[in-house]
Amino acid sequence: MTEKGKSHGRLLIGATAKPRELIEDRPALARAWTARIITLFPQVFPGVLGASLTGKALDEGLWQLDTVDLRPFGIGKHRNVDDTPAGGGAGMVLRADVMGAAIDRAAQGTPEDRADWPLIYLSPRGRPFDQAMAQRFGWARGLTLICGRFEGLDQRVIDHYGIEEVSMGDFVMTGGEIAAQALIDATVRLLPGVLGNEASAQEESFASGLLEHPQYTRPAEWRGHAIPTVLMSGHHGKIAEWRREQSKELTKERRPDLWQAVCCDKLNQDEN
Ligand SMILES: C[S@@+](CC[C@H](N)C(=O)[O-])C[C@H]1O[C@@H](n2cnc3c(N)ncnc32)[C@H](O)[C@@H]1O
Repeated sequence: MTEKGKSHGRLLIGATAKPRELIEDRPALARAWTARIITLFPQVFPGVLGASLTGKALDEGLWQLDTVDLRPFGIGKHRNVDDTPAGGGAGMVLRADVMGAAIDRAAQGTPEDRADWPLIYLSPRGRPFDQAMAQRFGWARGLTLICGRFEGLDQRVIDHYGIEEVSMGDFVMTGGEIAAQALIDATVRLLPGVLGNEASAQEESFASGLLEHPQYTRPAEWRGHAIPTVLMSGHHGKIAEWRREQSKELTKERRPDLWQAVCCDKLNQDEN
């Protein structure tokens, strides 16, 4: 499954059996966290990831993006990637033989240990994506993301490769590409050096299990609404206390599931 490359400084040089049309024009960067994406629409990447902090980090080589176009793996003159569902029903299903070949190609040069390189299918049936997952993916060397289309992927591929299914929420999109970009964005911003201010990732929503407190900035008064006085007091202790309280209240009100998890954790810590 693996095909080791030689590292020459930042550039990774290795033999490849990729057809010409599957080779990215950027040289691979050794050690940079990598998102490898199997998709029918490689042209939609990097998309929004090319903007702002993730785009700057991509340009600086803090992470890299490889797309594997599914179409060339398709069958016959028309490179068909899908077929009708076994047992009948609406829509089309991505073929196991086509996706299997693309996954094998995407696995080249990646570690076999899934902890180092998760293999993920974006799917509404998956485990809901969260900050802990983003952190876990960021600790890996990279990951491979499979973007579904149509009615999704033949189940045998998911079972054969032991693919992890990850959902962006309880709604259905037409394809996995937007989900992939959301997952990559949340992960890349946790990589060292990507955020200008590392503290902001530690202080924001979910880092401590709570939602973030409200934020304000200038002007001090806007259309009759003033910034809460405590934030203008310069008293750091009181500001921190106010923010903590706001976080707790917001979490209790909007996300009782998160609040309960934080309370359970606290109870367990107190007992131990
Ligand atoms: C139309 S959906 C397929 C939905 C599938 N028939 C079902 O009912 O679960 C096509 C593709 O979009 C992607 N997708 C749609 N909604 C998603 C979500 N909430 N999270 C992650 N991926 C999603 C998946 O890759 C999926 O294979």
